[in-house]
Amino acid sequence: MTMQDPKETEAELVAAVTGAETLEALEQVRVAAIGRKGRVTDLMKSLGAMTPDERRTAGPLLNGLKDRISTAIDTRRAELEEAALEARLQEEHIDLTLPTRPEMVGSVHPVSQVTEEIIAIFADMGFTLAEGPDIEDDFHNFTALNMPPEHPARQMHDTFYLSGEQDGTRKLLRTHTSTVQIRAMMSQPPPHRIIVPGRTYRSDSDITHTPMFHQVEGLVIDRTTHMGHLKGCLIEFVRAFFDVDDLPYRFRPSYFPFTEPSAEMDIGCARSDGELRIGAGDEWLEILGCGMVNPRVLENCGIDPNEYQGFAFGMGIDRIAMLKYGIPDLRAFFDSDLRWLRHYGFSALDVPTLAGGLAR
Ligand code: PHE
Repeated sequence: MTMQDPKETEAELVAAVTGAETLEALEQVRVAAIGRKGRVTDLMKSLGAMTPDERRTAGPLLNGLKDRISTAIDTRRAELEEAALEARLQEEHIDLTLPTRPEMVGSVHPVSQVTEEIIAIFADMGFTLAEGPDIEDDFHNFTALNMPPEHPARQMHDTFYLSGEQDGTRKLLRTHTSTVQIRAMMSQPPPHRIIVPGRTYRSDSDITHTPMFHQVEGLVIDRTTHMGHLKGCLIEFVRAFFDVDDLPYRFRPSYFPFTEPSAEMDIGCARSDGELRIGAGDEWLEILGCGMVNPRVLENCGIDPNEYQGFAFGMGIDRIAMLKYGIPDLRAFFDSDLRWLRHYGFSALDVPTLAGGLAR
């Protein structure tokens, strides 16, 4: 049987491999050389028709040829892949030093702005900022707050539970920022004077509820703080926040498992022609829940209720942002609609301070 000189075949194939300019071209060369019907494969098949003597010399020759062609293909493939990556990096290069386009300047979301405003007011009263995790456990969200398993108040929370852990416990998305009361009291001895803004979650969705919303929690614990301080602090807050000096308010008795006594605070407003005005009027708007920290909560955190006492409050940030800036639909807060953001957003340079002003 006559066959082409393997040396010539090798030279031709290597030339084809190194000459392949793209990965696709290289693949064609590979199939034509060592694919199922490739030239090298054909040569290998011809071994079967040879005499044992012929095979003894041709076998190693052809195997060596096949190995060298495979290696050449792999080398070329690596080169081409590297070149392709390099080209892509060049093409997708972003010049971070380019100036911003004026029409593309972002704005501060009302929730961020209002959070900063709230922090500025309470910081001025001597509160420090605290935080806690969004993913919580049953203890911090309920049990420590005097809501043991089966407590009816748990049902009002429409809790999102995460799938169960190995030990049978389930984590949850915190339903209120009151969790951070517990974290603060368990991590440091009193006194405490903290303000805690953050995300909260409840399985609820309509024009005034979104599954994720924002709350701010306040907590004061020391030896002497009483209900009068609670009222004074919150009255001062609403008047500064809404910038109405004689803003009418009232405290209505209420119930929370973690405070005793508990109250809800309303502020005065007037509604005319579908317009809502915060201030003197004949209507009330509920804006927060509050109360003296329940002695049982103090005990749950290892604090002696005969020595320490204080108050806590919790307020919906989104809601008071809507009231202050006349934003009608809560759901629009989380739609990421650029037109809405441009309309209701704040300048990034407009940092709220008590001296510089809280509003635009
Ligand atoms: N955690 C309560 C709620 O989400 C609000 C609250 C906080 C009430 C602190 C009293 C004291 O409704």
